[in-house]
Amino acid sequence: MSGDTDAPVDPTQPPRPTHTTRRVNALAARIGARRYLEIGVQRGHTFRTVEIAERVGVDPRFLFDTEAVADATTTLHAMTSDRFFAEAAGTKPFDIVFIDGLHVFEQVVRDLTNTLAWTGWHSAILIDDVMPTDVYSSIPVQRDALRFRREAGGRGGQWHGDVFKIAFLIHDFFPSLDYRTIVGTDNAQTLAWRAAGPMRKPIFNSLERISRLTWFDLQAHMPILRGVSEEEAIELCAAAIAPRIATAR
Ligand SMILES: C[S@@+](CC[C@H](N)C(=O)[O-])C[C@H]1O[C@@H](n2cnc3c(N)ncnc32)[C@H](O)[C@@H]1O
Repeated sequence: MSGDTDAPVDPTQPPRPTHTTRRVNALAARIGARRYLEIGVQRGHTFRTVEIAERVGVDPRFLFDTEAVADATTTLHAMTSDRFFAEAAGTKPFDIVFIDGLHVFEQVVRDLTNTLAWTGWHSAILIDDVMPTDVYSSIPVQRDALRFRREAGGRGGQWHGDVFKIAFLIHDFFPSLDYRTIVGTDNAQTLAWRAAGPMRKPIFNSLERISRLTWFDLQAHMPILRGVSEEEAIELCAAAIAPRIATAR
């Protein structure tokens, strides 16, 4: 979610672990993750508190001193995710990828499909911002979201964009991914991993319809997110992928 100011982090202040840190670290411990990629790092509150041996961060505009954080096992790329995957991603697969860059559906589709090329059967993919808090938060242009909410008498800077459409896309067009959406505590996030079956019956079966979905469609089709608790999502994902780790490395 985006709702903060753009003020850079005071480099003398330690990062504050986030709810994503908690989720990623719990999953990492369960599956023995060794390589982590975060798309959209900003102040690094999540990135810098993730406990995985090798960490790669990508953001065209980091809001902290990257040179003070980078070392032999922590790499930071000041560029868009598209450029990163085209030029800097290397060849080694990641165990956990956190997609939290530009909150626009088309970008998240590209981030997900690129991520699939840099992950395997043993990997977990966590996608942020899948549950806009109101209709304004779901508008893909951030300044419009904030302006229309303000003009309607609302308050707050929440902006999730139209990332929520990714759950519909995965449901209908990525049958080789299983997924659950963590709901109930903190920002909702979709956790996805490779799986063969069970077969899902497409609901929209139209890329065009999915790309035109609105916040109201989301309210009408909420079960498509497959919402579960944080613990249940992590348990399901870890149970599916932990046995594959040994053969993946
Ligand atoms: C919500 S913030 C990330 C928060 C961070 N993941 C955390 O948990 O603390 C979103 C970040 O995505 C970055 N961003 C925007 N467009 C991007 C792109 N095309 N590729 C990668 N990152 C992008 C922004 O600069 C911003 O810092």
